[in-house]
Amino acid sequence: MMKQLLFSITLLLIFLFHCPTTLAQSPAQAPAPPASTRSITKILKKAGKFSFLIRLLKSTQVDIRITTQLKRSKQGLTLFAPTDSAFSSLKAGVLNSLSDQQQDQLVLFHVIPVYLSTSQFPAVINPLRTLAGASSIDQFPLNVSTSGDQVSLSTGLVDTTLADTIYSDNQLIVYEVDKVLLPMSIFGTAPAPAPVAPPSKPEKEIPAENVKSSSFDSRGGIMLSIAVAVIAAFSL
Ligand SMILES: *[C@@H]1O[C@H](CO)[C@@H](O)[C@H](O)[C@H]1NC(C)=O
Repeated sequence: MMKQLLFSITLLLIFLFHCPTTLAQSPAQAPAPPASTRSITKILKKAGKFSFLIRLLKSTQVDIRITTQLKRSKQGLTLFAPTDSAFSSLKAGVLNSLSDQQQDQLVLFHVIPVYLSTSQFPAVINPLRTLAGASSIDQFPLNVSTSGDQVSLSTGLVDTTLADTIYSDNQLIVYEVDKVLLPMSIFGTAPAPAPVAPPSKPEKEIPAENVKSSSFDSRGGIMLSIAVAVIAAFSL
């Protein structure tokens, strides 16, 4: 017990001492690396709040596709990067309920096969083409609208505004977004796959609340009789 306590305190101290240094490191932006060594996951890791996206980029191997695309095309690439809090505000289990192909598409929906600086957004023709596929209304449409310096995105299901520019060199630009862009083709017709509903019961049955409290009563009754029996046994 004492040992455990000491261990926890040690961990806490290590954490506290370590924390300020990692916090101090994260906002610093390194100069753009040469295109051949540029790694999207490293860029995101440095920014410090995209661990969910990094995992998805790796598991779908979209990180590799991004590197390949950047090598192959001179048009560059734009990534809309949802933060960890964007992912955690999705309904529980939504991501796991997607097929591998849908996970690929979801990630690719955040990738635009062209470099778009903030000043270029007003000239974008809607819908914007993403790497996920067709931008027709029931597939992977993504619209841009601008107002002053503000750039907003709409998928028809999700609206969000571009936050900070996480990274930018002459080929790749990464914007932070505070929502996961949900594409029509995956989430439009059948939204978040609902948890399996309990079989519906005939209406005549006692309402659930009553069932709960009455079963509690009977359990309480049993507990009470056990207690009485135990006390009785000891008092003998
Ligand atoms: C996106 O823009 C296209 C073309 O202007 C329009 O037809 C469509 O309704 C827009 N969709 C959304 C979700 O804003």
